[in-house]
Amino acid sequence: MSVELGEKKVRWARDHMPVLNELRCGELEKQPLRGLKVGISLHFEAKSAVLALTLRELGAEIAATSSNPLTADDDVVDYLKSLGVPIYAWKGMSEEEYVESLHRVLDIGPDIIVDDGADLLYLAHTERKEVLDRLIGGSEETTTGVRRLRNMEKKGVLRVPVFAVNDSKLKFIFDNKYGTGQSTIDGILSATNLLVAGKKAVVAGYGWVGRGVAMRLRGMGAIVTVTEVDPVKAVEALLDGFRVAPMIEAIRDADLVVTCTGDKDVVRDEHMVLAKDGVMLANAGHFNVEIDVAALERMAVEKREARPWVTEYRLGNGKRIYLLGEGRLINLVSGQGHPAEIMDISFSLQLSAVLLLARRGRELEPRVYNIPGDVEEEIAKLILRCWGVEIDSLTEEQIRYLSEEF
Ligand code: NAI
Repeated sequence: MSVELGEKKVRWARDHMPVLNELRCGELEKQPLRGLKVGISLHFEAKSAVLALTLRELGAEIAATSSNPLTADDDVVDYLKSLGVPIYAWKGMSEEEYVESLHRVLDIGPDIIVDDGADLLYLAHTERKEVLDRLIGGSEETTTGVRRLRNMEKKGVLRVPVFAVNDSKLKFIFDNKYGTGQSTIDGILSATNLLVAGKKAVVAGYGWVGRGVAMRLRGMGAIVTVTEVDPVKAVEALLDGFRVAPMIEAIRDADLVVTCTGDKDVVRDEHMVLAKDGVMLANAGHFNVEIDVAALERMAVEKREARPWVTEYRLGNGKRIYLLGEGRLINLVSGQGHPAEIMDISFSLQLSAVLLLARRGRELEPRVYNIPGDVEEEIAKLILRCWGVEIDSLTEEQIRYLSEEF
């Protein structure tokens, strides 16, 4: 049943990923990845499977794991295994099993790495340096991964070119904002089955993810407060109509707190002790460091599973705190990840990055690169075509006016 269900999930996703499919069809005959090995670490659910299979159909030998111990979809993994894909992932891996799975992927000696959070690329630069001898380069999916890789570049330790898929406008605007905005709500609702309308919600961080989560929570009737450390983003949140306050104040009457910062200890003991009884804490950032779970464990006098993916902690002051999804990305732990149409865009960028690396990766310096503007524009045009949307184009007169008049 699991394989059959996995196949249905992957087919459904593929049917709703027309842009990636167009790119695939355009390359199928050329087999541009023949002879190359691609190591993949992505949140391994249906849409990631579509990308993995696409890479294989274009000639690559692949090996895969999930980019987080809790985000694999076991049905999808079983389906991929039934197709002979070496995939080392299941939902609920321990930290040790997770790291072991990353090693298994590196064992194939990849030419190209497709990463989400940069764990594979980081390992290749530390414990598994032999991998670098063959590695042409990598592509990175998320903000936190790009931050890590840029820090490696700054310190002079990055040894291969990496495409920052995340930093493409087509990625961060659509995936981080609209994708995470929708899927985070999906994850919270699946875990809790509670009402959003009328709840007091706090969104920590008003970057791309925070903007999307705040917008969707408000759209469903929550009263939203934003916390920030960047004064410009704080002003933006204010002008978007949100209340802005420091966490120490905002948490006092919150029913729900969602962290979206990519930072650590955003909700810590000094905040949790002030929270009202029954507050729910969820995280949408890449790593499980935004909510200080260790502090919560220390402060709790009692702990029990209230529902799947909802842990109740009772503090010494008698108040209950509900931690959703163990403080890991809630949209993937108890939700189904981003909508297929969003991952269609993000994974079309990933495929383009892999093709760029296959074609001219060996000529590139070891740096973090943005996806070239012309590639992004072509994908944007393809999205519009697939979605049946037409736009205007400049007349000759307009081109002259815009470039010459001053
Ligand atoms: P961003 O850099 O656009 O925004 C982060 C914001 O958090 C910034 O405005 C920053 O000033 C603020 N911030 C940092 N420390 C803070 C603190 N202590 N308190 C309050 N605000 C603070 O980053 P983006 O793209 O919004 O990504 C955020 C996180 O979400 C990253 O870890 C990223 O990898 C992850 N992500 C998760 C996705 C998912 O599916 N759950 C999808 C895309 C990104």
